[in-house]
This record gives sequence, structure tokens and C-alpha cells, in this order.
Amino acid sequence: MQIAIIGTGYVGLVSGACFSDFGHDVVCVDKDAGKIEALERGVMPIFEPGLDRLVARNVEGGRLRFTTDLVAGVQGAEAIFIAVGTPSRRGDGHADLSYVHSAAREIGEALTGPAVIVTKSTVPVGTGDEVERIVRETAPGVPSWVVSNPEFLREGAAIEDFKHPDRIVVGAEEPEAAEVMREIYRPLYLNKAPLLFTSRRTAELIKYAANAFLATKITFINEIADLCEAVGADVQDVSRGIGLDRRIGAKFLHAGPGYGGSCFPKDALALLKTAEDNQAPLRIVESVVKVNDARKRAMGRKVIRALGDEPRGKTVALLGLTFKPNTDDMRDAPSLSIVQALEDAGVQVRGYDPEGMEQARPLMPNVELCDSPYKAAAGADAVVLVTEWDVLRALDLKRLAGSMAAPVLVDLRNIYPPEEVAAAGLRWHGVGRPAEAPAA
Ligand SMILES: NC(=O)c1ccc[n+]([C@@H]2O[C@H](COP(=O)([O-])OP(=O)(O)OC[C@H]3O[C@@H](n4cnc5c(N)ncnc54)[C@H](O)[C@@H]3O)[C@@H](O)[C@H]2O)c1
Repeated sequence: MQIAIIGTGYVGLVSGACFSDFGHDVVCVDKDAGKIEALERGVMPIFEPGLDRLVARNVEGGRLRFTTDLVAGVQGAEAIFIAVGTPSRRGDGHADLSYVHSAAREIGEALTGPAVIVTKSTVPVGTGDEVERIVRETAPGVPSWVVSNPEFLREGAAIEDFKHPDRIVVGAEEPEAAEVMREIYRPLYLNKAPLLFTSRRTAELIKYAANAFLATKITFINEIADLCEAVGADVQDVSRGIGLDRRIGAKFLHAGPGYGGSCFPKDALALLKTAEDNQAPLRIVESVVKVNDARKRAMGRKVIRALGDEPRGKTVALLGLTFKPNTDDMRDAPSLSIVQALEDAGVQVRGYDPEGMEQARPLMPNVELCDSPYKAAAGADAVVLVTEWDVLRALDLKRLAGSMAAPVLVDLRNIYPPEEVAAAGLRWHGVGRPAEAPAA
């Protein structure tokens, strides 16, 4: 099948590469000439494990192409995916649909033959209706169908998720459009990935409900972690104790510095706006958003407390800056709030991240970025583990302790057992575990 993808970001590029790997003929379109030019040279615009090889294989096989020319890109395409960004609208938290609407308009203006237009971007309920209206207006007389097909991939495991999804949700109003979608996903369907057909509005809402639920789970365990600290219980054991209950499940029960990233924060906010506009308030999600916002800054205060009486003039090394491991995405990363809180208290901040430093640099201009965790820690008054990258899971803690001005480790991901940290001569602070382990 001939497929065009509009927007070659995290979702568009991974979707395009995977569809071409299924054997479809794919053109990825992006407005960003630099991105397309780099892709044509085989340089990935994002860090995503395995993506470079997947792209190279399919470009070589003649199934995957890149262009900035949307009009040429959509010619002959039986399915056109919209995978542009839907960030928070500045000022009010609604999803900014301007990129989706303008992509729909450009598609309509370029359309010469029948096509299914598929919204893969995360969009509020009713956006498909508006995309349909725009396409009908700009391509009168050309048969087209608008479908919602939200994406559930996780950055860092995007290819695996795309190729082995828990489910594929398709919101289609017409059987001919549903048929095209079935054909596109046939290779996965054969692998028994459940293909869930719903109404278009339902599919749009499923994506937001899924993200809001996951954000709630994370926030729930984070509040339980605070209670654990207050009463001397251990959140790691609480997580295990409740996660083994199959009705609850073990995933997303790791206490930490709060959720961030390109999806949960903006999607939770956008869902609240939809709820507000429809007089159906989502009070649980409202609390989740408030609690999570407060938590990110509270993590900064936790570090400041760990520094002792006078934080001003001290130096802190943050290890792991991206919002989670295996991505270079810095959007709404908790590290940003922590840096702000530390700088507000007069603390000097150093940072290290295996892949995210280029993206981090403009967002934290006063932070000294170092090219190894040990360089960041040398002479520091505290080391803070913010993101659980694999390379940060087996640090030489003794070496770290030996080079620091004060041996303090704040482990916001509970990577290291407190006894191990203490044995290395570091004073340990974790999340939701009995107050402080004694230094060795
Ligand atoms: N990143 C994720 O993990 C993830 C997961 C699931 C869903 N989503 C959703 O998918 C959508 C895309 O997210 P992303 O992270 O891939 O965004 P992104 O910002 O990485 O990429 C969007 C791309 O679209 C391009 N673009 C914008 N308007 C265009 C136009 N008219 N023509 C051609 N190109 C255009 C931009 O230049 C950019 O490269 C969002 O709605 C997001 O919420 C993201």
C-alpha cells in the first residue's frame, strides 16, 4: 500500500520506518528542511534505539523516502497519516491544533484521488470532524475518509512498541476506511495484535484516557512514597505488594520525581480542557496534574535539604537529564524544574546525560554540562540521580564519593540499595524509603 506521513518527528518517523518494514511504500514529509536533508544522509534527527538501522534498511530497499514537498508526497497515497505535533496552547493548556489543521488544509489542497486521512497525532475529541470539514472544503469532489488511529508507542522502545503493540485502535466511521486500515496493519494483525475498531470520537478519547490513567498511576505511587517517608515504610515494597495483584499490575508503580515528557503533561491538561468545555469535570485528573506539578519542584527542595544548612554557593551534579532513559527528549523533563529550584536557591548545577545534552543545553543555559558522570561529580556537594539510564545503574560509587566535596547521593529513582551507597561512604537519600540510611 502507498502511504504518506505528514510530520517526521518521533511518531511520524518511527511509524514511517515500521510501515515500510512491513512492506508498504512510504513517503515521510516534513516542513523542516534540515531534518529531511539529514535523513537523506542517513542521520537521525532523534535518538531512538535501532531506528537508524531500520531506516537504512528500508531506504535501501526502496520502500522509504523523505521529502519536504507535501504535494508530491501525497500523490497516489491511499492513506495519508497526520503525525504533526499537538503541543499545549500557550496560555490556556488546550491542545494547539494549528499544525493539524494546516496539515489537513495542505493535504486537501494536494489531493487528486481517493484517500483515507488518518490522524495519528494525539488530538481532542471532535478534531476528526474538523479535519474532515477542512479536507471536504479544500478537496471538493475528491472522495476521502477521515480516521483516528492514536499512537501508543513509548520513546526509547518505540520500534518494539510499534511492531508489538498491546492493541491498535482505529476510529473509523465508514467500512471502506476501516478496510484500508485493516490492510495497513495486516502484518501485525497476523501477529495477533488486537485491532480495536471504534467510532472516531471514541478512538480520540481512548488515547487521552490511557495517558491520564498512566499519569494517575505514577502520581498515586508518588504520593504513597511521600507517606512512606512520613511513616517509615518502604515504597519499593509497597509497589511490589500491590503490583503483584493482577487487578493493579506492576507497571507504572515506580516512585520518582514526577512524570514529564512530550505526552503526559500536555495530554492531561488538554483532557481537562475537553472535560471543562463539556461540563464533565475530571476531578481525579485535575488532582493528578496539580500534585505532579508540585512534585517536580519539591524534588528540588529535597536536594536542597540534602545539602544541609546553607545551599548557596554549593555545587550539585544532576545525572540523567532527559525525561526518561533511551531518548534525547527533554520536553517537560523533571530535571528542568529541579535545575530551576536549585538555581533559585543559589546552587551551582552541573549536568550529565548520555544522549540528551544537545537538547538540554538551550533549556538550562547556566548548567555546566560535563561529558561523564564522574566529571560532573568531581568537587560537587551532592550527586542527584534524576533519570535511570543504564550507564548510571552501575556507577563506581566509591570513586564518586572519593572525588566529591561532600559525599551525598540523592537517588530520585531508587536505583541503588541504601546499604550499598552507605558502604561506599556516601550519605543516601532516596524516594519513599525510610528516611536516611546511615553513612558507613
Ligand atoms: N513522542 C511520543 O512519544 C508520542 C507518542 C504517542 C503520540 N504522540 C503524539 O504524536 C504527535 C507527534 O508527536 P512527536 O513527538 O512525533 O512530535 P515532533 O514534534 O517530534 O514531530 C512533529 C513534526 O511535524 C512536522 N510538521 C509540523 N507541521 C507540518 C506540516 N504541515 N507538514 C509537514 N511537517 C510538519 C514538524 O516539523 C516536526 O518535525 C503528537 O500529537 C503527540 O502527542 C507522541
